[in-house]
Amino acid sequence: MYPVEIRSASTLREFEAMYAQRWTVLRHPLKMECSLQPNQPLDSLEQTAYHLIAVCNQAIVGSARLCHLTPTLGSLSYVAVSIEFQRQGVGTRLVQALLDQARLDGLSQVRVMARADTISFYERFDFRAQGDVIYYLGIAHQFMLCQLSSAASISSSTP
Ligand SMILES: CC(C)(COP(=O)(O)OP(=O)(O)OC[C@H]1O[C@@H](n2cnc3c(N)ncnc32)[C@H](O)[C@@H]1OP(=O)(O)O)[C@@H](O)C(=O)NCCC(=O)NCCS
Repeated sequence: MYPVEIRSASTLREFEAMYAQRWTVLRHPLKMECSLQPNQPLDSLEQTAYHLIAVCNQAIVGSARLCHLTPTLGSLSYVAVSIEFQRQGVGTRLVQALLDQARLDGLSQVRVMARADTISFYERFDFRAQGDVIYYLGIAHQFMLCQLSSAASISSSTP
């Protein structure tokens, strides 16, 4: 098995591959009709976001992004690990690295709109549910907020 490296996306080719990987994990299973191309950005926040990719043997097997919504509030989104790489710690490494980046940027809170079946995944990083369940793309979602000052670092607490 090749190692999985977590790093920023940089080249145009990497960005296109990252959008395609995101589409495959997050959108394709929903059988969505969509006017966007699978390898294109989904919204205008893409330009200013941090994009992390997980790379294994030159293939993108995971991705996630962090945006600044305000000077103190960040947004974590599009956390996507390819199915054959799930449950191997890749998602944890992506989220942890983006929370570390958020701290470096001086953000005090990071928000995520979690799919309901991933709530316990985000709770591991001290994200806490806020408000009611909402429906997006026909899927139950829960807004969750992580206070960075009190956020436990999974990587540093692991022996
Ligand atoms: C959710 C997701 C990002 C997690 O990434 P991952 O690499 O599989 O997760 P990790 O291996 O780092 O951590 C898994 C741990 O988180 C917890 N967890 C809770 N809910 C989970 C879920 N739905 N999927 C994966 N892990 C979950 C478990 O404790 C698990 O540990 P275990 O395998 O020992 O039981 C990934 O499974 C994924 O991309 N799923 C499909 C797309 C998706 O739903 N993205 C989130 C959009 S908000």
